[in-house]
Order: sequence, then C-alpha cells, then structure tokens
Amino acid sequence: MVPIKVFRFDPEVDKEPRFETYLVPLEGSVLDALRYIYENYDASLGYRFGCSGAGHQRCGACPVLVNGRPALSCKYLIEKEMTVEAHPKFEVIRDLVLDFDRERKRDKKIIPNVKITIDPEKCDGCRDCVFICPLKVFEVRKNEAKMISVPVDSESCCGLTCEQCSIFCKNNAIKIEMMMERKT
Ligand code: SF4
Ligand code: SF4
Ligand code: FES
Repeated sequence: MVPIKVFRFDPEVDKEPRFETYLVPLEGSVLDALRYIYENYDASLGYRFGCSGAGHQRCGACPVLVNGRPALSCKYLIEKEMTVEAHPKFEVIRDLVLDFDRERKRDKKIIPNVKITIDPEKCDGCRDCVFICPLKVFEVRKNEAKMISVPVDSESCCGLTCEQCSIFCKNNAIKIEMMMERKT
C-alpha cells in the first residue's frame, strides 16, 4: 500500500479546498486508486471516468493533474509519491469532477509534458483534432493560403496517456513528443 494525496473540494459544503491522504494498493492506474478510495474510505469522492482506457476508445472523461502534470487517470500507473488534483483547464464541480463547458482562469502553474508539432504540409484543417481533444488544445487558424490546426494550449495536454489527436489524424500530421519520461 502507498499513500496518495487527493484534492478535495465541494463548493456546497467546504469553505476551502484541501488535500486528503489515503492508502491505496501499489497496482493499476490512478483511476483504480480513486475507485479504491471511493469503495473503501469515502463514497463522497467525486471523480469521472467513461471508457476506463480500454483500447483506443478513450473518452477523455478523466483528465487530472498527477504531481503537477496533466494525465488521463485511467492510463497513468500508480507510483509511490503521488498527488492527484483537478485539471486546472476547467472549473471544478466537485473534487476531481470538471465542468468541460466552463474554462477556468488559470490559477495554477502546470508542468508541461509534451511538445506538439503540426506538419503544415500534411494538415488540411479538417478539425478532427479540435473535436477529439478533451482539453481543447487545438484551434484551426488561417496560415498563409490555407486553414491548419494550431496547438494553442499545449500545457494542458495529457501527452502519452492520451494521444487521441495523433491517433485520429488521418493525415498523420500531429507529432506528440514527451519532454520527460513518465509512467503510462
Ligand atoms: S486532424 Fe490532422 S489534418 Fe485534421 S486539422 Fe487536425 S492536424 Fe489537421
Ligand atoms: S494528446 Fe492530443 S487529444 Fe490528447 S490531450 Fe493532448 S492534444 Fe489533446
Ligand atoms: S476513462 Fe475514458 S479516457 Fe480515461
């Protein structure tokens, strides 16, 4: 078992956000640890998931910050020293549950994970990456004579725990490079 620190805040009852520490098994994903906490310690913990990371049908429902870096909780494996927070891109509804329709004024520094490169020769501006990205990292903008995708918020990217944009881009125009090694 290892301790894990988890962000807790219910705006309906809490005056201030706080962190709670729980003991969880050192196996599986961060999402497995959140489930363990929910089932064994505190059923009031708010977190989201959908596909649970099966195959490539990743739904993007579970972004969090793990030790300051964005990640999908269903794909990030448990480590010994972990702090799990709400991803700061969107407003918090409760604990780790985000409102994907309301972007938050960023009050927290994110440690960037990745470098995202779009090949302007290959990109045809189809917007598939804009629609599939759970963190709204891309915008399609005019570049000389054509429209192409541009990463406007690479900081929020969940990197190799996600990769949905690069998997789904039919033109293979998106390159995701990790800036440091991580466990996925
Ligand atoms: S999915 Fe690929 S081709 Fe389409 S806009 Fe994004 S980068 Fe360009
Ligand atoms: S890997 Fe692509 S789809 Fe996933 S969060 Fe990063 S930019 Fe968005
Ligand atoms: S639960 Fe679907 S991506 Fe994590």
